[in-house]
Amino acid sequence: MKEIILKSQISYYDTCKEFASEFNLGSGDLILTNEYIYKPYFGSLGLNVHTIFQEAYGTGEPTDIMVDAILEAAAKTDCRRIIAIGGGTVIDIAKVMAVSAGDPLDSLYAEPEKIQKKRELVILPTTCGTGSEVTNISIINRTRLGTKVGLVSPHMYADDAVLVPELLNGLPFAVFATSSIDALVHAVESSLSPKATPFTKLFGYKAIEMIIRGYQKIAVEGIDARLPLMKDFLIASNYAGIAFGTAGCAAVHATSYPLGGTYHVAHGESNYAMFTGVLKITWRSGGTARLQ
Ligand SMILES: [Fe+2]
Repeated sequence: MKEIILKSQISYYDTCKEFASEFNLGSGDLILTNEYIYKPYFGSLGLNVHTIFQEAYGTGEPTDIMVDAILEAAAKTDCRRIIAIGGGTVIDIAKVMAVSAGDPLDSLYAEPEKIQKKRELVILPTTCGTGSEVTNISIINRTRLGTKVGLVSPHMYADDAVLVPELLNGLPFAVFATSSIDALVHAVESSLSPKATPFTKLFGYKAIEMIIRGYQKIAVEGIDARLPLMKDFLIASNYAGIAFGTAGCAAVHATSYPLGGTYHVAHGESNYAMFTGVLKITWRSGGTARLQ
């Protein structure tokens, strides 16, 4: 039984400037992000990098059409490293970019066992929820087939996951709330999972503690009390990502996906809607109401 899988090197910097300098960003790099993130945090650094702004290819969750267009644009560059700076959509697309040298998405799905890493991958999350910077799954809406399926490969892990709390400075309260709830659900579900191990619980339990302590402070002092806690929430969501990357998630995620897929409810909000109900059933059934 695997105790814990941790493939990415994890780094931490207070600012984007420090990150850009330490990682020596240059002409071999392609930054996939959103313009509203790039301009304020990287625009003044004068970086000689390629950039792709995800919103130029479509909005919302990643689709096969959006991903194929971005893969084509990336193939026209000579980039050797993908730098993903964003939330779940950007990170999911970047994981595919790291294993495609222009190959379309359908060919990757057709033979996932043949997927190989084509470019280095560095991921900087800009929310405190997905933990996706340390997992190897990409969820893409395959609109041509009418399905939403995960693409998984050991080659889709980031080489580097980089935590920069400065990137969370402008995170609106609603996004903070839904993304941190997602992290809490990752931590709880992975800790209840039959695949949980003492190692995954170490990260899962600590993430639960950090998130609940933060919520307690915000409940007493008001929503601005979250601002000095962003570093804690960013680290907690990474811990939760490490935990569920090995132990997996369960019924809360399984039941929340249809709300997202059908009604476009934000992932953290749909998790929030299902969380207490599923946990009560799990508790009453002695922990047997689990989906794997
Ligand atoms: Fe999630």
